[in-house]
Amino acid sequence: MDIRRFRSGDETALFHVFYSAIHGIASRDYTRDQIEAWAPADLDPNLWASHLSNLRPFVAEVHGEIVGYADIQPNGYIDHFFVAGTHPRQGIGSSLMNRIHEEARALGVEELTSDVSKTAEPFFALHGFHVVERGFPIRRGVMLENALMRKNLRCGA
Ligand SMILES: CC(C)(COP(=O)(O)OP(=O)(O)OC[C@H]1O[C@@H](n2cnc3c(N)ncnc32)[C@H](O)[C@@H]1OP(=O)(O)O)[C@@H](O)C(=O)NCCC(=O)NCCS
Repeated sequence: MDIRRFRSGDETALFHVFYSAIHGIASRDYTRDQIEAWAPADLDPNLWASHLSNLRPFVAEVHGEIVGYADIQPNGYIDHFFVAGTHPRQGIGSSLMNRIHEEARALGVEELTSDVSKTAEPFFALHGFHVVERGFPIRRGVMLENALMRKNLRCGA
């Protein structure tokens, strides 16, 4: 597996990862309406491309195929974290998480935060995050459930 930085042209493959992660993995923890609202098939491709080029995520590839991606913003916020529904529990998420921690050290970030799905909460907990508060965001008129999670990276914390 390779972890590399985002390149222009990755956007469509990243949408497939996002879509299959939510429809294939997170669908165990959310209703059909919630899944459709979170990852609609008709998402505007231009808005998606522009959002992803702003996030500039790390991209995981296996034999040249994009199978996951995750970002870290300069303030330590993780906006997207997805592994393709075709490749669950193969260590891809953990490799992306390790790369994010390396980047956090390089950036001098003192804490990582993310609004984490119910599906990803055990994975983030395994990587040292704890729940700060539960959230109920509305997407396309449908209430989802997530949790703001945080990990302190300061030495000795
Ligand atoms: C959460 C996610 C990123 C994990 O990616 P992954 O590549 O499967 O994770 P890993 O293989 O590195 O898992 C490492 C460990 O995390 C834990 N873990 C991972 N997924 C889990 C799950 N769905 N439930 C419980 N524990 C989980 C396990 O302890 C796992 O080790 P194991 O497989 O040996 O038991 C992926 O399942 C995903 O994209 N989920 C759907 C989309 C989503 O909710 N994204 C997050 C939005 S905030």
